Amino acid sequence: MLAHKDYKVDQARPDDAAAMLHFWQGIPGLGIGQGDDEESLQLFMARNPSTCLVIRDAEGLIGTVLAGFDGRRGYIYHLAVHQDYQRKGYGQTLLNRAILELQTLGARKMHLFILRDNPTAAAFYERQGWQNRHDIQVFSWDTGR
Ligand SMILES: CC(C)(COP(=O)(O)OP(=O)(O)OC[C@H]1O[C@@H](n2cnc3c(N)ncnc32)[C@H](O)[C@@H]1OP(=O)(O)O)[C@@H](O)C(=O)NCCC(=O)NCCS
Repeated sequence: MLAHKDYKVDQARPDDAAAMLHFWQGIPGLGIGQGDDEESLQLFMARNPSTCLVIRDAEGLIGTVLAGFDGRRGYIYHLAVHQDYQRKGYGQTLLNRAILELQTLGARKMHLFILRDNPTAAAFYERQGWQNRHDIQVFSWDTGR
């Protein structure tokens, strides 16, 4: 097990995409959807190099976060920590770094989405001080329908 001093947060690289997809498949609670294919991920990481982050050890990924700034808001996706490493502060570390990097790009407000049946994520984000919005509904448009 890595001690805190032994890990660092790195920028994800486009060639991490396949390993990230494999990693997320083993994480319950993560909503895998459209955009979670190697090509789309590589595009996202190429557009948002400073805000797509990983923590890894010699054996592979321990945690990930994908964040992006659209010029108005920051968005955070796929914050995930390997089940064997949860509740050790890795999630908080990745989230805080993503927030910092988004702020550096000029984002003053950030949003994220979690599935309604993911109480762990809700507890985590509430603990981090995020506001659970009840005044907004999410509408989506799918070009492939
Ligand atoms: C959400 C997630 C990223 C948190 O990562 P983590 O490394 O375990 O979280 P941390 O150790 O940094 O937790 C920080 C604090 O958040 C809260 N928290 C974290 N997990 C929690 C849980 N299962 N239940 C209640 N509170 C929790 C705690 O207050 C914790 O501090 P503490 O351990 O000192 O009490 C991780 O549970 C995960 O990967 N979940 C599956 C993927 C997912 O749902 N991602 C979010 C939606 S995209």
